Amino acid sequence: MMPKPFGIYVHWPFCRAKCPYCDFNSHVRHGGIDQERWLAAYLAELRRFAVFAAGRSVTSIFFGGGTPSLMRPATVSAIIDAIADHWDLQEGAEITLEANPTSVEAGNFAGYRTSGVNRLSLGMQALDDQSLKALGRQHSAQEALDALALAKRHFDRVSFDLIYAREGQTLKAWQAELTHALYHAADHLSLYQLTIEEGTPFAARHAAGTLRVPDGTRACALYQLTQELCEAAGLPGYEVSNHARPGFESRHNLLYWRGHDYAGIGPGAHSRITFNGAKRALSAIKSPEGWLAEVEARGHGLASDDALSAEEVAEEYLLMGLRLNEGIDLGRLAALNGRRLDDDRVTALAGDGLLKRDGDWLAATPKGRLVLNQLILELAA
Ligand SMILES: C[S@@+](CC[C@H](N)C(=O)[O-])C[C@H]1O[C@@H](n2cnc3c(N)ncnc32)[C@H](O)[C@@H]1O
Ligand code: SF4
Repeated sequence: MMPKPFGIYVHWPFCRAKCPYCDFNSHVRHGGIDQERWLAAYLAELRRFAVFAAGRSVTSIFFGGGTPSLMRPATVSAIIDAIADHWDLQEGAEITLEANPTSVEAGNFAGYRTSGVNRLSLGMQALDDQSLKALGRQHSAQEALDALALAKRHFDRVSFDLIYAREGQTLKAWQAELTHALYHAADHLSLYQLTIEEGTPFAARHAAGTLRVPDGTRACALYQLTQELCEAAGLPGYEVSNHARPGFESRHNLLYWRGHDYAGIGPGAHSRITFNGAKRALSAIKSPEGWLAEVEARGHGLASDDALSAEEVAEEYLLMGLRLNEGIDLGRLAALNGRRLDDDRVTALAGDGLLKRDGDWLAATPKGRLVLNQLILELAA
């Protein structure tokens, strides 16, 4: 029998500059980062999780951020080696690193490959310089394309991110940009609609009326166009914002959406670990320096550790699983909280074209995914 997937997420919380739309746990530190010190802290957290999640087979590792391509290859390598020492790191495990496509960071790609990284996810965001400038990015479109070409030379699996529904973006402009992107695509694309996140400079400009993003109708049309173009190019959507050639889906991200266990290492990282038969939700201290100080003083940077109730586990499975094209297994959902979804409600939502059911599998249709949050609220009510 295949072991259940188990992933390890490593959060590197630093960036060269803070992008004005971003509310991830990412920070700029002009004084530099003591990578030796940070590595020692990651290794300490790994030791602790090795006790908590002993005996698991690691099927994926994901270095996310922030900007993990600011990590030295030696730091990445030491973390992968420690994971392989503590757990059975499965042969062929997917090891992804998120990289920003500046030329300096591209210089690290060969080193990451040697360290054991086998999948690169590049934050390209847009394919023209004017849009990149408006997004506050530190790289040009040509730099991003050069980094992509280099990534394809070093890695068998490469993904890149774009942000669409940007200020002033017309359907025609996005059609041209996405067509260009699909021409360069390897096996995977993450295509995110611009979200105005509270507390960011974009949110302030949006509130002041100086940043105008496409309205709901245009955003829906942009989403539909995205699905059609990717499908026609052989990279159909398998999740709300993710597209892949069949078989090249991100195994690590699938693990979150399918409700499997993972350990999150680093500031603000979250974990879900089944321990003594109960699923626990853990989170780490969010502030980078606060986390580092705690790990150095106590051996871990834990902020919270809660046992999830059966109801909470089922709710998470519903919430995450309906993001996927494949949907959720109703039998598994019922086994989690001991009750089935209301059949009449499912039938009514399927009648409205928002859900589709195939035996015990239930999925949101493309129309349903456009109103996913509302749909989940109705199902969970
Ligand atoms: C955690 S970021 C890290 C990636 C890397 N630091 C970079 O910027 O290239 C992952 C992705 O989230 C997306 N993202 C971040 N903020 C967003 C927002 N407000 N709206 C839409 N997408 C966003 C970007 O596409 C980004 O590549
Ligand atoms: S989008 Fe990426 S580079 Fe920009 S601030 Fe967020 S994590 Fe950092």
